[in-house]
Amino acid sequence: MTSGVHQIPLDQPFSDQKPGTSGLRKSSRQFETPHYLESFIEAILRTVPGIAGGTLVVGGDGRYGNRRAIGVIARMAAAHGVARIITTTGGILSTPAASNLIRQRQATAGIILSASHNPGGPEGDFGVKVNGANGGPAPESLTDAIYACTQSLDGYRIWEETALALDTPGQQSIGNLQLEVIDGVDDYVALMQQLFDFDAIADLLKGDFPIAFDAMHAVTGPYAKRLLEGLLGAPAGSVRNAVPLEDFGGGHPDPNLTYAHELAELLMGSDAYRFGAACDGDGDRNMILGTRCFVNPSDSLAVLTANATLVPGYAAGLSGVARSMPTSAAADVVAKELGIPCFETPTGWKFFGNLLDAGRITLCGEESFGTGSNHIREKDGLWAVLFWLNILAKRREPVAQIMAEHWSRFGRHYYSRHDYEAIASDAAHGLYNRVKEMLPTLVGQSFAGRSIATADDFAYTDPVDGSLTSGQGLRLLLDDGSRVVLRLSGTGTQGATLRVYLESYVPPSGNLHQDPQAALGDLISAIDNLAEIKTRTGMDRPTVIT
Ligand code: G1P
Ligand code: ZN
Repeated sequence: MTSGVHQIPLDQPFSDQKPGTSGLRKSSRQFETPHYLESFIEAILRTVPGIAGGTLVVGGDGRYGNRRAIGVIARMAAAHGVARIITTTGGILSTPAASNLIRQRQATAGIILSASHNPGGPEGDFGVKVNGANGGPAPESLTDAIYACTQSLDGYRIWEETALALDTPGQQSIGNLQLEVIDGVDDYVALMQQLFDFDAIADLLKGDFPIAFDAMHAVTGPYAKRLLEGLLGAPAGSVRNAVPLEDFGGGHPDPNLTYAHELAELLMGSDAYRFGAACDGDGDRNMILGTRCFVNPSDSLAVLTANATLVPGYAAGLSGVARSMPTSAAADVVAKELGIPCFETPTGWKFFGNLLDAGRITLCGEESFGTGSNHIREKDGLWAVLFWLNILAKRREPVAQIMAEHWSRFGRHYYSRHDYEAIASDAAHGLYNRVKEMLPTLVGQSFAGRSIATADDFAYTDPVDGSLTSGQGLRLLLDDGSRVVLRLSGTGTQGATLRVYLESYVPPSGNLHQDPQAALGDLISAIDNLAEIKTRTGMDRPTVIT
């Protein structure tokens, strides 16, 4: 064995290292269990093809545990014959910037350290996600193989204790491994400059157009500072909470009206700003606000689709769009008018990857504040913010007016998601399985004054590789095009989370300016009756409504 390599035995394998939709996500405490992180990294290094002699991109959202994990990964990679690790100053690397780096540097794979929008810190969560050479989340076949490897692991290999210099760009070696520390912002900014009209946006921001961007003390702070205040000339202070903190300042870095409430109050409760936006912990989600106007993410995808040709990077038009099943069909209506295909995929970004790689789609998005395109293989929060600013720079209309015009042209999909978080796992599965068993009996029954046309458990056949993914959520499709969907979250770390998705379409001639909760009121009570949500969860209202 090469000197410097230590072989550490494990008494027994860890049984709980099955990655979910977004990698292995557990409490920080769990990741601090001796050998826990190392076990999962060992499984990655043994399983990902081409690791020996290959290049890995490694970095994370700066949460508690980020630096320690980079050190462990570097030392273990050295012990496994990895040739090169590319990481960033302070180990700060957003998920979209990581996806870009993997592609730019033709890396073998990437390891992203983040629990996305979950709180961080010693009492918060941590996570490890593997991305493949295309820059996107590893396919299930690979994550299953990594999990299988953890199940029988009897030890791991790690290079002896080595201090890493992560604070400034430079090179360092650990055995035969080259560790390259680069500025994590540069390459991402260069990519954004290729896609968007920076002159037009700078011109917009020079006028009477105050903006507020909330980085939520998470990873996007340094990127947003450089882009918005540096290159685009927004006044200092436009980017708020810009310094990444290990515990995100005690906040919950999830850009929605509940958790980004400071920003929401600024935009929804005053006329001080023309545009507001926030991103999540690792920078892949976005929330878009105008003056007294919240843009729901399903609508945002539809607006980007309808206005894409105003943006230089998409001026030639779109090959197609895709949305996840629970996302509203607002983009479908636009795609139909543009004469381009629209795909409906299961929840999770990886399903978009095949369609993007095959050139079948250009834009894609999820209702959960994720939007992206073929520029990388992850959703991209700041990209969405720049896309909106580019549209606003060209159209010179308030966000609320852009929405109103969109609805009067395409109709409006009233939409809301109700989350019941941290319910006892038994209660959640009991509720879900009961409705699942009822599905065949529901067709033709009346529901909220309409009739149930289809009731199924969503399954998806990938149009590119033919693979089948089933069990993706219970759908009730009503005869007037309305929908209710039930899903259990795959990313929570405490108990179970039930998500109820509600959608109702109003054509351009209908009432386009109601409060969504009021417009969806009859669906909300009908699904509660059918699924016995309140009684079975013991909760009289959802924990989060978006
Ligand atoms: C959630 C979102 C989903 C997203 C995922 C990762 O997953 O609903 O759209 O892809 O986070 O960001 P869930 O907890 O619903 O399984
Ligand atoms: Zn995220």
